[in-house]
Amino acid sequence: MATLKNIPKLPPERERLVSAAPVEDDSSFELKLRPQRLAEFIGQSKVKENLAVAIEAARSRGEALDHVLLSGPPGLGKTTLANIIANELGAAFQQTSGPTLQIKGDLTAILTNVRDKQVLFIDEVHRLQPALEEILYSALEDYKLDIIIGQGPSARTHTMDVKPFTFIGATTRAGLLSAPLRSRFGIMLRLEFYGHDDLLIIVKRSAEILGVEVDKAGAMEIASRSRGTPRIANRLLRRVRDYAQVRGAGKIDLPTAQAALQMLEVDRHGFDEIDRKLLLTIIEKYQGGPVGVNTLAAALAEEPDAIEEIYEPFLIQIGFLNRTPRGRVATQLAYEHFGITPNRRQSSLF
Ligand SMILES: Nc1ncnc2c1ncn2[C@@H]1O[C@H](COP(=O)(O)OP(=O)(O)O)[C@@H](O)[C@H]1O
Ligand SMILES: [Mg+2]
Repeated sequence: MATLKNIPKLPPERERLVSAAPVEDDSSFELKLRPQRLAEFIGQSKVKENLAVAIEAARSRGEALDHVLLSGPPGLGKTTLANIIANELGAAFQQTSGPTLQIKGDLTAILTNVRDKQVLFIDEVHRLQPALEEILYSALEDYKLDIIIGQGPSARTHTMDVKPFTFIGATTRAGLLSAPLRSRFGIMLRLEFYGHDDLLIIVKRSAEILGVEVDKAGAMEIASRSRGTPRIANRLLRRVRDYAQVRGAGKIDLPTAQAALQMLEVDRHGFDEIDRKLLLTIIEKYQGGPVGVNTLAAALAEEPDAIEEIYEPFLIQIGFLNRTPRGRVATQLAYEHFGITPNRRQSSLF
């Protein structure tokens, strides 16, 4: 039986194999594996259909596409889709991120230089500073920019025109977006965790690009341990490929994939120590919950944001964790997973 005590010390998030957040050695591979066109983008059929129609309409009217908000957990394809939208529009693509833009001048410089119908992509748009957000409002709504010239009593406001452009914002936390900013987006799309069948196609496609042979059962084994996340599927594929090269015959089949993933300590749900520790902390230390996210974060020596953004969404999606107004609750499935029998009080929470 798994218990809190026999879980090894937590690795830092950047070294976590099944982290949905990008780690350093992902970037060059991600470029190679990133689909360029909508037709190559696997799954998310509702999102793709919405986009295809909107892009087609904007193109035929010769107008800039409406502003787009892409939300969803990390690693599901937000940055990829932003690039694809620009490609499909045949438009220039410029990328920055909320935390990178520090002062008003950073943003006004970008806005005064935008080209006609180009795509401006701001990642982590929920982390944009309020003062910068305000600059965006009129730029997005009327393509106008108010610039204050001078200081004190002689300061004057000068209004400038901005070229019509498409703003794409990406966020892992749509709920943190202010209402005025949210209302500027004409198209709001939410990416969902991928099913095993879609991940299977992604693993096969990536294997082909990487030039490694994988059979269906081997690919499915990787897909089903990828926490519904293409970024993790691609990362696990690379690690299993290493294993197949060194310990196997170079080909990824079921026994090779299973042995590799066992060595990497990725279990059949794609859980690693952090997931196990999070669930077991709720079960053992807090009698199954409810426990507030801040308390939980302190017990795990993690940031509350990391719990809400990175760890918890997948556990909720597969039904191991519930988010209630009073805090997080471990579900019956979680108890079963660890072979722990819930007591009466705990059962009454399910
Ligand atoms: N629908 C998809 N089809 C194929 N590959 C995908 C898909 N979505 C994501 N990927 C892969 O996963 C990686 C991470 O996606 P990314 O767009 O960077 O996620 P996000 O910006 O949401 O964190 C990409 O490099 C890409 O290779
Ligand atoms: Mg991204």
